[in-house]
Amino acid sequence: MLGNFTYCNPTKLYFGKDALDGLKEELKKYGKNILLVYGGGSIKKNGIYDKVISILSECGKKVYEDAGVMPNPTYEKLLEGVARARKAKADLILAVGGGSVCDYAKAVSVSVHLKGDPWDEYYDKFEDVKCKVVPVGCVLTMVGTGSEMNGGAVITNRELKLKIGHVFGEEVFPKFSILNPEFTYTLPKYQMVAGVYDIMCHILEQYLSGEDDNTSDYIAEGLMRSLINSANIAVKNPTDYEARSNIMWTATWALNTLIAKGKTTDWEVHMLGQAVGAYTDATHGMTLAAVTMPYYNYILPYGLHRFKRFAETVWGVNPAGKSDEEVAKAGLKAMEEWMKSIGLVMNLTDLGATPEMIEGIADATLTMDGGYKVLTYEEITEILKKSL
Ligand code: NZQ
Ligand code: ZN
Repeated sequence: MLGNFTYCNPTKLYFGKDALDGLKEELKKYGKNILLVYGGGSIKKNGIYDKVISILSECGKKVYEDAGVMPNPTYEKLLEGVARARKAKADLILAVGGGSVCDYAKAVSVSVHLKGDPWDEYYDKFEDVKCKVVPVGCVLTMVGTGSEMNGGAVITNRELKLKIGHVFGEEVFPKFSILNPEFTYTLPKYQMVAGVYDIMCHILEQYLSGEDDNTSDYIAEGLMRSLINSANIAVKNPTDYEARSNIMWTATWALNTLIAKGKTTDWEVHMLGQAVGAYTDATHGMTLAAVTMPYYNYILPYGLHRFKRFAETVWGVNPAGKSDEEVAKAGLKAMEEWMKSIGLVMNLTDLGATPEMIEGIADATLTMDGGYKVLTYEEITEILKKSL
């Protein structure tokens, strides 16, 4: 049964080869001072930086730069960004990059006018935003996180060895996002497939829960089928526009709150992956891939009916002559083969994790209660060991 909910997604999207034209329209709505946030320099190599700068100057904006946002942005960098945004008196924070840059921009946006410390407030106490928020716009260059149309902002505290996501409300969602699939062509294959699996995992975190016949689950199944099909094409031909555009659009809908409506959701794979990320600084999507099979194989008996449905509708497993458990397991096997075939990292050792880290990673793993099984500390430890 669909429960009570309200639905509002305030992010305006500009999609396609001409999407950047939308930036000119959007810039009219904001004052002169723009804080341009970006990562380690990929946008300078592939020409996106020049395109954005030219539009900003055409629109008469004063540009302040905040470069060097690292994958898995840190608390230290966040404090630096807050200082820069204050100095610039930013009217708009323009994030040009992947999820890390977009997340970081949002974390800065809610901290510029905050009196206290952003880590304490948002990542320790999970407080709601009570201060003024600086508007954020995104030009997306890496696909996966859904950050372009949601309120998520994940920050890593290296000193505490914690990687935590705050899911902010709609006042923090980007005001607009520019989605040009061609901007993702220069992504290394490693990042492209990590992003593909991040998308798949977002959908699964919301699909593998509940007992209902819920519209959200039917949408999720369609998104997964499109993603698998397009990923298979994009791995062979990274400049296949149709495939890359389908992946980009699927990513946005995978995590913009739509498919969570009216249901409980799990997110335990992300909690495991984030804890791994805090210890290894590995690529987000790969941390998820590495823990996926041990986790899903473990919880399969608790959500058997849904794993069976997943096998049949998403992986085309024929149930004839098989027990429910055999069907469900065949579905997971098919997903495992697909994951390997697109080049995902399937264990934590290859991401730099060691047996000595397991206790710390287990300590840093938050336990969620929306999935088919609430894990104990011992179960988390076992799953992490199996993932090595
Ligand atoms: O820094 P640059 O030089 O730009 O290089 C980046 C980075 O090294 C590169 N890249 C991005 N676009 C490129 C490109 N290289 C060539 N051509 C392009 N067009 O790719 C690398 C990875 O970028 P990053 O932004 O770190 O990747 P992703 O989009 O996967 O973001 C990961 C972060 O998002 C968080 C993750 O935890 C992680 O911190 N997440 C955010 C979520 C949300 N907002 O809801 C949910 C997710 O589950 C996730 O947790
Ligand atoms: Zn994710």
